[in-house]
Amino acid sequence: MKKVIIKKTEEIENWRRNIKKEINFIPTMGNLHNGHIKLISTAKKDNSNVNLVSIFINPLQFDNKLDLESYPKTIDNDIKISFSNGADAIFIPSNEDIYPPNNKNIKFLKAPIELSSPLCGLNRIGHFDGVCTVVYRLLNLIKPKNLYLGEKDWQQLLILKNLVQTEKLNVDIKSVPTQRDFDGIPLSSRNVHLSKNERKLIRFFSSELLEAKKIFQEEKKINLNEIIKKLSAKKISIEYLEHLHPHTLKKATTEDNISLVAGAIRCGETRLIDHVFLMKRRPIIAIDGPAGSGKSTVTKLIAKKLKLLYLDTGAMYRALSWLMIKESIDYKKEKKLQNILQDISIVFKSNTNSQQDVYINNYCVTEEIRSQKISSIVSKISSIKEVRKFLVEEQRKIGESGGLVAEGRDIGTTVFPHAELKIFLTASINERAKRRKSDKNSKESQEIELHTLKELIKKRDFEDSNREISPLIKANDAIEIITDGYSINAVVDKIIDLYNDKIPKETEIK
Ligand code: PAF
Repeated sequence: MKKVIIKKTEEIENWRRNIKKEINFIPTMGNLHNGHIKLISTAKKDNSNVNLVSIFINPLQFDNKLDLESYPKTIDNDIKISFSNGADAIFIPSNEDIYPPNNKNIKFLKAPIELSSPLCGLNRIGHFDGVCTVVYRLLNLIKPKNLYLGEKDWQQLLILKNLVQTEKLNVDIKSVPTQRDFDGIPLSSRNVHLSKNERKLIRFFSSELLEAKKIFQEEKKINLNEIIKKLSAKKISIEYLEHLHPHTLKKATTEDNISLVAGAIRCGETRLIDHVFLMKRRPIIAIDGPAGSGKSTVTKLIAKKLKLLYLDTGAMYRALSWLMIKESIDYKKEKKLQNILQDISIVFKSNTNSQQDVYINNYCVTEEIRSQKISSIVSKISSIKEVRKFLVEEQRKIGESGGLVAEGRDIGTTVFPHAELKIFLTASINERAKRRKSDKNSKESQEIELHTLKELIKKRDFEDSNREISPLIKANDAIEIITDGYSINAVVDKIIDLYNDKIPKETEIK
């Protein structure tokens, strides 16, 4: 594809019509560094869309005239960097192109107060309104499929995600972790203004944040006053230093598994920001839903794609049901059941096909637990108080350090009520019966008439939803996905997008 430089807004429309491909958009204000390069190269690696980089120093987001005038301008180098790292087109509009005088169609936006007033909003009045206005204008001109933004400006990222939602813009935001220089300081166009001594101070600030993160990993505690004291001893002027919820930007609470420590310091004329995410355990995804909703297939694929552990809680209930039949255990005798449960071990092991086998007391029962006989009693067994208590504890032990995707019926409500992402996956009875009928893993289901399968599913739904303990219900904060008419891959991609939206990419970096 011929690489192009576009300077006029009118040319954008023509270019878009000619390329006949979707667009990845990387907005910048120029003076490109490795942080921008990472955005461009990630976009190039992600898909075969056309990559467009914009370079526009947006006057609306500067609250200080001097800052605007001294903003580094390195256009020739920026063009070279963009093209050599994967850009197919560069958009370099003028002020008049973006904000034509007397154009009443330009929408001047206000960033939401809750997200724009804390942190950088404390001292940079109107800054985020300016960012929203220019990004909205650029998105309307370019109409990209994906918008690539750095997590370094985490507050900006949250505000722009909010903008996309409130303005119902048809674009997906992809975030890229903060890129740090050799000495640990986050890459920023403003770093060029730093003197040797100022750079030393910002390095101290960043290293204190990274150290606090390390300490948190061991002690699960953060002491902001300690950091403030150390920075003050170096005469570093702190604009803010806060420990917050990463999405609401409200004060962090002990409930938050992932939290954000964000700060801004002033070194001479330059103001620099940095942050770290603190995480008590790795993230958990809870996927609940009725029988035949596609949970297992979807959950397995998500585990593989996100490199998470796959926890099939249904298989644990089935394995227990299998043992009860095999050893003729009278599950109605409570006392006896408690003693039996104490000696049961259920483990998952990967097999040679990279699939997971389930073992109960060392018997591999992966296939046998899928029989209709087990299907017909598992709901009963799983409604027994002792059984649920025992298995929920086992499941929580497996999930103690997180990093898993669990499927079942009470994951989001009971087992992992603090899961970062909760999905309620469902489908119509008709669709679920059809899927059961064509289930290659179950010859038995294939032989049952469709209308009988529908009746069986209805019965199972009723039992699961009406049992006394942990009935199948959607958690208040779960996102419902009705899978009728969607391919498995489309459902998996949707859940991965939701996950990426909740979990900062930076938390994946050790
Ligand atoms: O992050 C930036 O460089 C700017 O705020 C952006 C998103 C290009 C808007 O001017």
